[in-house]
Amino acid sequence: MFHFMSTLLMLSSNPYLVAQNISKSFSQNGSEKVLNNVSFEISQGKILGIIGKSGAGKSTLLRCLNGLEKPNTGKILFQGQNLTELSNQKLREMRQKIGVVFQSFNLLGTRTVFENVTLPLELLKLSNEEQRKKVENILNLVGLSSKLNAYPSQLSGGQRQRVAIARALVVDATLLLCDEFTSALDPHTTLEILRLLQDLNRRLGITIIFVTHDINVVKELAQDVCVLDHGQIVEHGPVETVFTNPQQPITQTLLSELLKNDLPEFLQHQLHLEGKENDDVVLKLIFGSQTSTKPLIADLIQEWKIPINIISGNLDHIGKATFGHLVVSLKHQTGSTEKIIKYLTDHQVGVEKAGYIRWQ
Ligand SMILES: Nc1ncnc2c1ncn2[C@@H]1O[C@H](COP(=O)(O)OP(=O)(O)O)[C@@H](O)[C@H]1O
Ligand SMILES: [Mg+2]
Repeated sequence: MFHFMSTLLMLSSNPYLVAQNISKSFSQNGSEKVLNNVSFEISQGKILGIIGKSGAGKSTLLRCLNGLEKPNTGKILFQGQNLTELSNQKLREMRQKIGVVFQSFNLLGTRTVFENVTLPLELLKLSNEEQRKKVENILNLVGLSSKLNAYPSQLSGGQRQRVAIARALVVDATLLLCDEFTSALDPHTTLEILRLLQDLNRRLGITIIFVTHDINVVKELAQDVCVLDHGQIVEHGPVETVFTNPQQPITQTLLSELLKNDLPEFLQHQLHLEGKENDDVVLKLIFGSQTSTKPLIADLIQEWKIPINIISGNLDHIGKATFGHLVVSLKHQTGSTEKIIKYLTDHQVGVEKAGYIRWQ
């Protein structure tokens, strides 16, 4: 029993995957670094999102993580083994534990769903019966039991991505790497696929690392987030911390995408970036797990005598933390606007300035 417990402890305290000082350049002299000293780690069973603009180096990083690309310097330790030093044979074995899905589902059009998912198993020496069991089992988990004999062309985008996920996991993969895996899907289907991944993470304990340019995907799926900019991780932490208190301009820019979705359309068109006296300033207030429980809005209205116009709001949950926002507008006055923002941030409310508006 003791031995079992201590093994469990060791497992949980050992990072599952560690990227250590990864640098990668495709140029001859190594001057242009696509990845520049990237380090992070993830424990088993967690979900990590890596976000960055197009060209930030996300796909290259993901390819390094499954050994498809060799970094120039640095180590990738997967379950304690350095992927960058393994022999090709050993690397192939390790990679069976790592499933990958992409934006384009890469299914074979001439094969049925069943045959597509069987593909990775054909390299293993399994009996037909064992193969069938594994494939049926995983297709059941992704909700496609009724489509075994369908061809990819007969499936919706979401169903195709489910097939790709089943194929990635069928060889008992414990790590799933996803590259822009929702970019070809509409918002509703995206949400369904995100729910599926969450379900697989919870039920099978699969560790997930995904890269995306879409901050919504990070918000919905990730527990931790790394912001990748020009090949460097510029911000890293739990999603609720990074999102409610972004430190870097690039993170704020990415987050403004979320903010845009929150504003009514008419407002998006009327916002301007320079505030004049008598304009209203539009603020997004972000409440996270650290936010003070003081009635801050009531204080502003009653004690500060500031009329506040509530435009929209939404409360959400990320893990156990409540994560919510309120979009408000209030009279802009140079100086006092800054004081209000300071008052709110002092009470751990994240504040983003969306712009200025003149109510007609
Ligand atoms: N095989 C390659 N050869 C040369 N340059 C590459 C190669 N792969 C990626 N790059 C360059 O590396 C940079 C980052 O690319 P990528 O990792 O695909 O970014 P992202 O996925 O964030 O859009 C880009 O400037 C791209 O042109
Ligand atoms: Mg990419």
